[in-house]
Amino acid sequence: MANTAVLGVQWGDEGKGKIVDLLAEDADWVVRFQGGTNAGHTVLVKDKCYIFHLIPSGILHEGKKCLIGNGVVVDPPELLKEMETLRREGIEVKGRLFVSDRAHVIMPYHKKLDALSEKLKGGKQIGTTLRGIGPAYSDKTARVGIRMQDLWHPQRLREKLEEVLPVKNLLIEEFFGEEGYELETLYQDALSWGRDLKPYVCNSHSLMREVLESGASVLFEGAQGAMLDIDCGTYPYVTSSSTTVGGIFTGAGVPPSAVDRIIGVSKAYTTRVGGGPFPTELEGKEGDLLREYGKEYGATTGRPRRCGWLDLVALRYVAWLDGLTEMTITKLDVLDAVDQLKVCVAYEIEGERTQEMPSDLELFSKAKPVYEVLPGWQGSVRGVTKWQDLPPQAKKYLEYIEEFLGVPIRIVSTGPDREEVIVR
Ligand code: GDP
Ligand code: IMO
Ligand code: MG
Repeated sequence: MANTAVLGVQWGDEGKGKIVDLLAEDADWVVRFQGGTNAGHTVLVKDKCYIFHLIPSGILHEGKKCLIGNGVVVDPPELLKEMETLRREGIEVKGRLFVSDRAHVIMPYHKKLDALSEKLKGGKQIGTTLRGIGPAYSDKTARVGIRMQDLWHPQRLREKLEEVLPVKNLLIEEFFGEEGYELETLYQDALSWGRDLKPYVCNSHSLMREVLESGASVLFEGAQGAMLDIDCGTYPYVTSSSTTVGGIFTGAGVPPSAVDRIIGVSKAYTTRVGGGPFPTELEGKEGDLLREYGKEYGATTGRPRRCGWLDLVALRYVAWLDGLTEMTITKLDVLDAVDQLKVCVAYEIEGERTQEMPSDLELFSKAKPVYEVLPGWQGSVRGVTKWQDLPPQAKKYLEYIEEFLGVPIRIVSTGPDREEVIVR
């Protein structure tokens, strides 16, 4: 298989986990390159449901190797927990799972500061997953982060903690009036994570070079979605990493030539969890219908997801940004519930019609969707595996999307299970 990127092109939860699991069959390696435990990637195999936060979704395939790249922020106790859960299911990860020694560590103070900063925002909360993502990436950028490799260098680790902890404690104790952290306890905990994880940690850049030069095929698994990208998304209602294609090169340590095929994964409608503008959001009964039918509750936090119509303006912006070579549409079956389908083909902002993505959040918040209405299929596409078995209205819906985006749809998911899929 050509080296392939699987990227979320909306606000996350597009069904990337399922698609990575599907494509992993034909890949040798599956690599995560950004994000952290904020991700929740669901894979349903027969009646078993797995939710991955850090471990790449290809791990269920025997013999496939997985890497957590340098661009990921790793919460060591959570990673150990995830490994243990798999082990209990009879899936051994030793010798198959690797973690970059350059990856930054999510420390307990990051999680606390994530929660405290959210509280401080009052009504303007981002609605983070409270996994410490923003504070961990902030420390990385401020060059005071702790990296995986520091966990088994006792002297270096102590010096880093001595540098960073007084500042964190000052903030937590003096500004927020909460209990800070004791250096010795954090130090001992971090050393023990280092001992437990050392067998998995490697110089991932040398590893990736070796893998690519050997001709093995790699699947790059994106987390979150393009509209949550730190640079290109709906800032500040975004996550703190590069979720668009560029994140692969810095976050996995590979050149652009390492990616041949770029798949954008989108639901057949739109969801968003957390705060921030969402022009096609459906409040009331229609939104509830999509949420109930699509089981739209967060895989990481269990929060109800906001639901709405497909936003083709946002998707076309992302198709260009990501250089998509193809699209995957998931959850087509959820639209079984709908008689008339709407797709957003333009925004109206302060009386003007546009198909451009505004860079100013205040303007984007005012965007009113201009809809094209398409007929529903009054039947069920659940579990359909052949394009020709789709009702004509469903084909028309997908063809409309293809034409609008100028990107072919090659995979259509018609149910949560591994087998419920059309590959054209
Ligand atoms: P990810 O974060 O992009 O991997 O997506 P999530 O796992 O957070 O959310 C996608 C949800 O939709 C999961 O519960 C999947 O099991 C489910 N799912 C994926 N594809 C389909 C589909 O085609 N139809 C239905 N009904 N559910 C799907
Ligand atoms: P997957 O990989 C959906 C959202 C949060 C919040 C914002 C910032 O499963 O698609 P953060 O904790 O990252 O600082 O939160 O980003 N968010 C996600 N939404 N799917 C995700 O991951 C998300 N990861 C973060 O809800 O709005
Ligand atoms: Mg998810």
